[in-house]
Amino acid sequence: MANHKRPPASLIFIFGGSGDLNYRKLSPALYNLFIDNWMPEKFSIVGIGRSPYNDEEYRKRLLTGIQQFSRQKVEAHWDEFSSHVSYLQMDAEKDNDYNKIADVIKAKETEMGEHPNVIFYLSVAPQLMPDIAKKVGALQICSDTATTRIVIEKPFGHDLKSAHELNQLLMSMFKEEQIYRIDHYLGKESVQNILSLRFANTLFEPIWNRNYIESVQITAAEKVGVEGRGGYYEGSGALRDMVQNHILQLLCMVAMEAPVSFDANEIRNKKVDVLNAIRKLTKEDVNQFAVRGQYSEGWMKGEKVPGYKQEKSVSPTSSVETFAAVKFYVDNWRWQGVPFYVRTGKRMNQKTTNITIQFKKAPNFAFPPEATESWRSNRLTISIQPEMEVRLHFQAKQLGQSMTLNPVDMIFNPKDDGHEPEAYETLLLDVMEGNPTLFMRADQVEAAWNIVMPILEAWETRPPGDFPNYAPDSWGPEDAEALVARDGHNWITVPPAL
Ligand code: BG6
Repeated sequence: MANHKRPPASLIFIFGGSGDLNYRKLSPALYNLFIDNWMPEKFSIVGIGRSPYNDEEYRKRLLTGIQQFSRQKVEAHWDEFSSHVSYLQMDAEKDNDYNKIADVIKAKETEMGEHPNVIFYLSVAPQLMPDIAKKVGALQICSDTATTRIVIEKPFGHDLKSAHELNQLLMSMFKEEQIYRIDHYLGKESVQNILSLRFANTLFEPIWNRNYIESVQITAAEKVGVEGRGGYYEGSGALRDMVQNHILQLLCMVAMEAPVSFDANEIRNKKVDVLNAIRKLTKEDVNQFAVRGQYSEGWMKGEKVPGYKQEKSVSPTSSVETFAAVKFYVDNWRWQGVPFYVRTGKRMNQKTTNITIQFKKAPNFAFPPEATESWRSNRLTISIQPEMEVRLHFQAKQLGQSMTLNPVDMIFNPKDDGHEPEAYETLLLDVMEGNPTLFMRADQVEAAWNIVMPILEAWETRPPGDFPNYAPDSWGPEDAEALVARDGHNWITVPPAL
């Protein structure tokens, strides 16, 4: 058994207990924490839902999900783990039903012989979020700010106004330190590694600025379509689904100043500084700075796939984007004039999330022209997934008598032998430990909405004339190429990790 400090006793209520996220992510994550001995000595997990399950049926359902999605095999630990899991059938819209929660808390306190952390995880449709938060917030237990926490799944609001209203509501019932707004990208090992790369080495920081860096690219591409989530996606689109949260968070990790400490607020202050420095587009600028796309029907690796408009629960005339590319500028001393190109899309050629730091050209070549035919500027690529990898691209002399330079790669590629925790494991552990560093503070969420609002508004008022405009298995619409080509750049396709 690993010798580490485990979190204090915890009682976790999961609203949306019979839902998909719990099935695929939360329960497998909690189970893996249990196997790795990270769960508290005393804990209890209560799934909440409307569907009629008894405890045994509910555990069976979770087991199927865990068997499918857990990174570690389900073995002897299951019986012990599942004895900590139960189900509470209730109607989250009925005030009276919340007494059942208060009763469970009392019973668990007696059983554990102490007052545990009480965690409410809201993994429900966005429209249910405010009402449940209000009803949970009215429970007396929530005034205990040290041990009661609420976890809010994404999407956090639909636009700046609704995000602000949700923040106001939450903050009228809870203290900021009780509120854990999830962006699961921040829990990824490879994303956390960006901070170590930048701030645990003297090598990169002196050149990490406008004097040496020409541009930055962030790509978050997926091969899948909307996977049966058409209903949700119709109200969202790629900009809301990926750019407002995950991609802007990655951008913050690349662009932030060095934190003075690893204190949660210090790190979040540094990130919010980046968001506040991002140049606000006007609606008129949007055409120059942002491109949207929607996939047509076509072929993915030999398989016929439907277009977005033909997906389940999607309107056949939908103008929702499944691809978005944006050029951002961060207006501060470090980054003035350096474009940050970001793109994301469904049904793209590869599943990959990566960040490319493109350095400027060397100022002068002493080498004969024939030596430098295949010369390339230095480039640092940070692959977030499917594999974590850091790749530094530089020139080296080719072996032999002639002076010929060739680009070569220096690669850091930690092999995942099943020990890399999933993002939700890290985040759930942080909630139990009371560490909000990897969660979004109210001002961060609103600053991020503020950045995308002009694009959303411009796109809403100007329906796209050319949807669908990209084929499955491609890299998105042609206009996305033009977005970077206008500045003399091109999108960099990162080769799959070795
Ligand atoms: C979610 C989006 O937040 O992130 C999904 O709602 C998307 O549409 C997913 O597929 C991507 O996450 P990951 O971890 O697979 O890159």
